[in-house]
Amino acid sequence: MNVSPGNLVITDKEFNLFKSLIYEKAGITLASSKRSLVVGRLSKRMRQLKISSFTQYHSLITEEGNSIELQNTIDFLTTNETYFFREDKHFDFLKTEVLDNYGAGTNFKAWSAASSTGEEAYSLAMVLAEKLGLSSSWTILGTDINSDVVNKAKRGLYPLIESQKIPRAYLREYCLKGVGAQSGMMLIDNKIKKHISFELLNINGGWPEYINNFDIVFLRNIMIYFDIDTKRKLVDKIANKIKMGGYLFIGHSETLNQISDRFKIVKPSICQRIK
Ligand SMILES: C[S@@+](CC[C@H](N)C(=O)[O-])C[C@H]1O[C@@H](n2cnc3c(N)ncnc32)[C@H](O)[C@@H]1O
Repeated sequence: MNVSPGNLVITDKEFNLFKSLIYEKAGITLASSKRSLVVGRLSKRMRQLKISSFTQYHSLITEEGNSIELQNTIDFLTTNETYFFREDKHFDFLKTEVLDNYGAGTNFKAWSAASSTGEEAYSLAMVLAEKLGLSSSWTILGTDINSDVVNKAKRGLYPLIESQKIPRAYLREYCLKGVGAQSGMMLIDNKIKKHISFELLNINGGWPEYINNFDIVFLRNIMIYFDIDTKRKLVDKIANKIKMGGYLFIGHSETLNQISDRFKIVKPSICQRIK
């Protein structure tokens, strides 16, 4: 079957080329139902490059030394939906069950392992700032495979409408309303931004040494894109990087059943490292 929005057509063979590529480079499994998504997202770029065949575009991005175009393809094919205080029970749990055990001044370390445009990491930062204080040396690492979202996360500038999800007290304390050229926007205040760093990282690839010794890891709404073997390897690797007794937060539609026995499920989607 061929799929064609506008005048670009992808054959089965071509779809499989992109399917293998994104699996190899990101561990993402593309179901056949994603054919029109692939065509829709890649065709704009192909038109810019005046390329009319997916085989030709695939050759271009897999050419040695064309890592920029390959990164573009990864950016186009990842789904980055996120928002502030998504799944707010996780943040409540953190406030009421986790952070009370840490005094101000502790070096609390958190990882937002699929941080997308940064809302998850900044939501965490607001909670940590409230509970541990701004002068404590807590840190948050945000990582994602999509370079476009990592750059947006670093900026910390969002349409004002997104601020509706942020509790009012946090909004007043940690967010600045844009003026002039930034009117209609909201900027995350440097006083929490300075505790956070964002990096480009394929979570299914090699990890730098600073990925280590976390008190909590948020791995939310990313495992849905991976097959069972990829999930098993990933969760095992992550378990090694969480302190014993630390927590892993996963998305509400995700599970560790059949994936790992190194965590105790303390609440739905909240898991504590026991092994
Ligand atoms: C749906 S968003 C989830 C964002 C956030 N964790 C949340 O729950 O709101 C999934 C993110 O996973 C990222 N992603 C997908 N595959 C990845 C990989 N192999 N390594 C790192 N990030 C990946 C995507 O780029 C996307 O930003």
